[in-house]
Amino acid sequence: MSSLVISHMGANLGERPILHDIDFAVNSGEVVALLGRNGMGKTTTLKTVMGVVAMTRGEIVLEGRRLNRMTTHQRRRAGLMYVPEDGGVFQTLTVEENLRVGAARPVKGVLGPFPELEPLWHRTAALLSGGERKILAFGRAWLSDARWFLIDEPSLGLAPAVIKRLTEAIKTLKDKGSVLLVEQNVRLAEAVSDRYVLIVLGRVAASGAMSDLRQSAAYAEGLVNLAGGIYDTQSSS
Ligand SMILES: Nc1ncnc2c1ncn2[C@@H]1O[C@H](COP(=O)(O)OP(=O)(O)OP(=O)(O)O)[C@@H](O)[C@H]1O
Ligand SMILES: [Mg+2]
Repeated sequence: MSSLVISHMGANLGERPILHDIDFAVNSGEVVALLGRNGMGKTTTLKTVMGVVAMTRGEIVLEGRRLNRMTTHQRRRAGLMYVPEDGGVFQTLTVEENLRVGAARPVKGVLGPFPELEPLWHRTAALLSGGERKILAFGRAWLSDARWFLIDEPSLGLAPAVIKRLTEAIKTLKDKGSVLLVEQNVRLAEAVSDRYVLIVLGRVAASGAMSDLRQSAAYAEGLVNLAGGIYDTQSSS
């Protein structure tokens, strides 16, 4: 059974209950957008699935295996990979060195889907632009043996042209597996996602086909953050 199934997941940050009842699944080959306004628990959901934040209740099952008692490292080996907002790259290492960390195949192969990394090959990651760093993070994910990618707000703070590039990068990762994507840029989410799951105060408040989001009651009620509205995937260039 190829899916990531999250059932009644709860989690605290410190003493404070943040997730109360997170309940949804990602099927093999899907991109699922995790939507919601600031502070609703999206990042905490990704971190809890990855085992970075401890679960207080519920169950996580990946490809039929229960993850609850697994460490982050074990979950990584089980096929999950978390890509945080800042890309999670090693600032003091070069692009090439970053790509070698956890690579499951020859690193030069990354230049097929991500050719913009070639002129940056020997540059220290700390000297990359925000967009370049994000492409490096996607390149690392692509080179790894992970099949389930948990990606947190890739578009945050980036210019429209760069966000457009990330749209393609997410599709490239989708070819390798499945994606759970936290994204407040609704147009980016719409361009790449099959379904959406909306989180409100640590609970799943709505879900459905991505193409139905704008007709949903939750959307009309303003529960989806419209950040990044200037990016329009329909526009030319
Ligand atoms: N270390 C912490 N201790 C206690 N509460 C925290 C801590 N870090 C974050 N929170 C709170 O947890 C809640 C959920 O945070 P989380 O980062 O998961 O939200 P989010 O949906 O990813 O938000 P954003 O859109 O701002 O990234 C927020 O209300 C936040 O203020
Ligand atoms: Mg967040």
